[in-house]
Amino acid sequence: MLTFLCAVFVVGIIIMVGKLRRPNTTQKCAHIVVLGDLGRSPRMCNHAIQFEKHKFNVQLIGYAESKLGQTISNNNNINVSALKPFPQIEGLPAVLVYGLKILWQFGTLFIRLCQLPKPDVICVQNPPSIPAIFTTFLVAKIRGARLIIDWHNYGYSMLALKHGVRHWIVHLCQKYEFFLGQLADINICVSDTFKQNLGVHLIKASVLYDKPTDQFHILTTEEKHQILMKMSTKYSYKQFQGKLDDSTRFTSEDEKNNVTYVKDRPAILVSSTSWSEDENFTLLFDALKQYGSDDTTNLPSIVCIVTGKGPLKDQFIEQVEREREQYKHIEFCFPWLDADDYPLLLGCADLGVCLHQSSSGFDLPMKVVDMFAVGVPVCAVHYDCIGELVRRDQNGVIFQDSHDLSDRLESLLRGYPDRCLKLESLKSNLKNNLSNENWSTEWETVMKPLIRL
Ligand SMILES: *[C@@H]1O[C@H](CO)[C@@H](O)[C@H](O)[C@H]1NC(C)=O
Ligand SMILES: *[C@@H]1O[C@H](CO)[C@@H](O)[C@H](O)[C@H]1NC(C)=O
Ligand SMILES: *[C@@H]1O[C@H](CO)[C@@H](O)[C@H](O)[C@H]1NC(C)=O
Ligand SMILES: *[C@@H]1O[C@H](CO)[C@@H](O)[C@H](O)[C@H]1NC(C)=O
Ligand SMILES: *[C@@H]1O[C@H](CO)[C@@H](O)[C@H](O)[C@H]1NC(C)=O
Ligand SMILES: *[C@@H]1O[C@H](CO)[C@@H](O)[C@H](O)[C@H]1NC(C)=O
Repeated sequence: MLTFLCAVFVVGIIIMVGKLRRPNTTQKCAHIVVLGDLGRSPRMCNHAIQFEKHKFNVQLIGYAESKLGQTISNNNNINVSALKPFPQIEGLPAVLVYGLKILWQFGTLFIRLCQLPKPDVICVQNPPSIPAIFTTFLVAKIRGARLIIDWHNYGYSMLALKHGVRHWIVHLCQKYEFFLGQLADINICVSDTFKQNLGVHLIKASVLYDKPTDQFHILTTEEKHQILMKMSTKYSYKQFQGKLDDSTRFTSEDEKNNVTYVKDRPAILVSSTSWSEDENFTLLFDALKQYGSDDTTNLPSIVCIVTGKGPLKDQFIEQVEREREQYKHIEFCFPWLDADDYPLLLGCADLGVCLHQSSSGFDLPMKVVDMFAVGVPVCAVHYDCIGELVRRDQNGVIFQDSHDLSDRLESLLRGYPDRCLKLESLKSNLKNNLSNENWSTEWETVMKPLIRL
């Protein structure tokens, strides 16, 4: 009897696995997985677009919190498959909730990956690592697909920010990541420093740098005016409102649709963030409190736009509200922009600020790549490998602390808008050597050989 049941069970498994492995003979299929908000995972969305260009049927799997760009939502070959988020549970110990969450994520992701058409490749973002890379590894084995891990950072280093480097969960996660990294078919990562470190842990990776997609370009005055008008009218941000109907605080349009800049406009400072522990916003806010505190000659006032969503956002906005009178020349604006508006508003800025201090020291901020592509120089806080991206006094400046940042803001913006030579020279450097590398060329050179297309 028992033997019979076992036999039935084994045959059942074989049939199921056979079914799960049955390919769709007409089209190759790629599963792109991120256990996070898809709208805030631009690199994974870019992978999806690129796989689609190579005639894959693409299944984009993750959480559907923010709106996706039109390239994805209007594409028939990219199917967005939203996972059900873990429900809020209260009154249980944190460890138990964490355990339940992992089980939930494993279950929902595993079942979804088995339901969707058979993949030829599964490409997963790391982090979040637990349980994403294990689940995708398992499904890749069962369904006969190749697993690609895209290392944006180390998951354990993010956990260490929260729990401290000595916590057991950090050690466990570290072992888990290195172990699965060795088992994956293909590993790609975001910087050369990262590649070297993965190599130390016996993971052979290739560097696929973040490069701008074609949405990011230097805007014309008309394009700037349009998005600024949209901010002022559609989204009613008063920081953008001009004196007349057809004008914003920065640009105005005459009867012949000729757009010009307003003479005494404020400078626009932009920073984008996921409001998480690896960015210290106190640095920026402290620097802005000091801005113009000694000598305001020829210093413009600043509209500081901080775009993004994330866990620490509300806390920081409250703090800024509370300390409002300490910011003498600054107005703040904290929008969340959808994927199509983001490149446009970014392109209106005079200067970008990057507070990303990699938790591992190995990853590079994609927002800086985007800012460069729209011709905006960047002040970036120093950490080990930022020099792979920001070159001192060529495309931006690197600062150490809030005093330093405030000094640099003053020296770059003094004389704005017409007589700030240093800022202009950074801008023109960016314009002159706009690299003709873009995401698609980078992907073609790095990824295509790896997946043997
Ligand atoms: C798209 O994803 C949904 C699940 O979100 C699934 O039910 C559907 O079958 C998928 N469609 C295709 C064509 O893969
Ligand atoms: C197989 O590919 C074809 C062609 O794109 C598609 O129409 C069909 O839905 C796919 N079948 C499955 C089971 O995904
Ligand atoms: C990317 O760059 C290549 C070569 O410079 C160019 O031919 C192509 O049109 C660009 N693609 C996009 C999407 O901008
Ligand atoms: C637009 O305005 C600029 C600056 O005032 C002027 O030089 C230019 O001739 C105008 N163009 C048109 C089409 O009116
Ligand atoms: C953030 O920056 C401020 C300086 O403005 C510093 O006092 C603080 O210690 C920093 N916080 C962390 C967590 O590094
Ligand atoms: C860009 O071009 C400028 C000249 O316009 C040059 O001085 C600079 O070294 C170039 N390289 C970079 C990375 O900015």
